[in-house]
Amino acid sequence: MASIKLFGEVNNKPVYLIKLNNGHIEAEFISLGATIRALRVPDRSGNMVDVCLGYDTAEEYMTNDGYIGATVGRNANRISGSKFSINGKEYKLNANEGENQLHGGIEGFSHKCWNFSCTENSVTFSIESPDGDEGYPGNLKAAATFSLVNSTLRIDYSASCDKDTIVNLTNHAYFNLSGQGSGAINKQLLTLGAESYTPCRDGNIPTGEFAPIINTPLDFSKENSLDFALTSLSGTSTEGIDHNFVLSSSPAATLYSEETGIELSCKTSLEGLQVYTSGFLTKRNGKDGAIYGKHHGICLETQHFPDAINNPHFPSPIIRVGEEYKEWTEYSFKIR
Ligand code: GAL
Repeated sequence: MASIKLFGEVNNKPVYLIKLNNGHIEAEFISLGATIRALRVPDRSGNMVDVCLGYDTAEEYMTNDGYIGATVGRNANRISGSKFSINGKEYKLNANEGENQLHGGIEGFSHKCWNFSCTENSVTFSIESPDGDEGYPGNLKAAATFSLVNSTLRIDYSASCDKDTIVNLTNHAYFNLSGQGSGAINKQLLTLGAESYTPCRDGNIPTGEFAPIINTPLDFSKENSLDFALTSLSGTSTEGIDHNFVLSSSPAATLYSEETGIELSCKTSLEGLQVYTSGFLTKRNGKDGAIYGKHHGICLETQHFPDAINNPHFPSPIIRVGEEYKEWTEYSFKIR
C-alpha cells in the first residue's frame, strides 16, 4: 500500500513523502521534484539495501546542486546558447550554466512541487508549466508515473502542450548497488547497449558528431569495471563519465555490484542515455548519516540526445499541438 507523510516545506508549500512496497522492492518518493528518495532491493543474503542516494530534508533537495533523484524537465541536459527555434520563431531560455541551459533552467521541474495521486503500487506526479516558464513556449502539462512491478521500478512519462514546444524528461537518480553511502562505485561493473556516443565541445555541448566507443575508456559494449574510465577520465572536463551514449540494443545499461550481488538493468523507449558518474558531486551529507562525494553514484539518465533541438539530424524533441509525449524507462533488479 502507498503510505503518505509530510516530509517538509519549501516556499510555504508542503512536500510529501510517498512510500510504496510491493513485497519485492520498496521505494520512497518526494513530491518536490517528483524525486526518487530511496529504493530498497534485496542483496544476495536477502537484506534490503538502499541503492539510491538522497537527503533527509526538503531544504537540502531545494538548495544543494546535483539534482539527486529528481525528475528533470522541461528539458533534461543542455541547450546550447539557451535558445532554439520552432516554426521560424526563436525562443530564448533562462541560462543557468554559463551561456547554456542545463536541466530545464533556474527553477526547472526538479525544484517544483508536483501534485500527486497514488494507487496501491504506483504514484503519478503531475505538473502544469505556464507559457514562458524558463523561456519555453506553451502551457505544458506533464506527468511521471512510478510503478512497482515485481522487482522493477517503471517510470511512464507523458506531456502535452497548447503550442509546439520541446520536451525531454528524465530521472536523475544516483545508483550505488553496494548501498547508498558505501563510497565510490569504481569496482561496480557496467555494460551499455551502445556502440557510439555524441562527443562534446566546451560546456559539454555536442559537436553533432557520432563517435565509436571502441578503443576508448567509454567502451562498455562488454561488461567492464568502472574503475578504468573513472581513473583515466578524472581531471578531464567530465571528471569521469558524463557522456551521452547512442542506444543500439536493449538493455540500455546493466550495472552489477559483486559486493551485494545486486544487478540493475535499465530498459527504455528513448534513444539516448547520459551516463554521469557524479564527478561533480562535492562532499556533502546524505540521508541516514551517509557522507557523499565524487564518484559515489552513477546516473543512468534515459533521454533525447543533449541539445537535440539545435542538431536537426538528432531525433527530435519537438511535440506539436495535439501530440502527446509518451516515453518509459524501467530499472529492474535481480541477484546474480
Ligand atoms: C548531469 C550532467 C552533469 C552535471 C550533473 C549535475 O546530468 O550531465 O554534467 O551537470 O547532471 O550535477
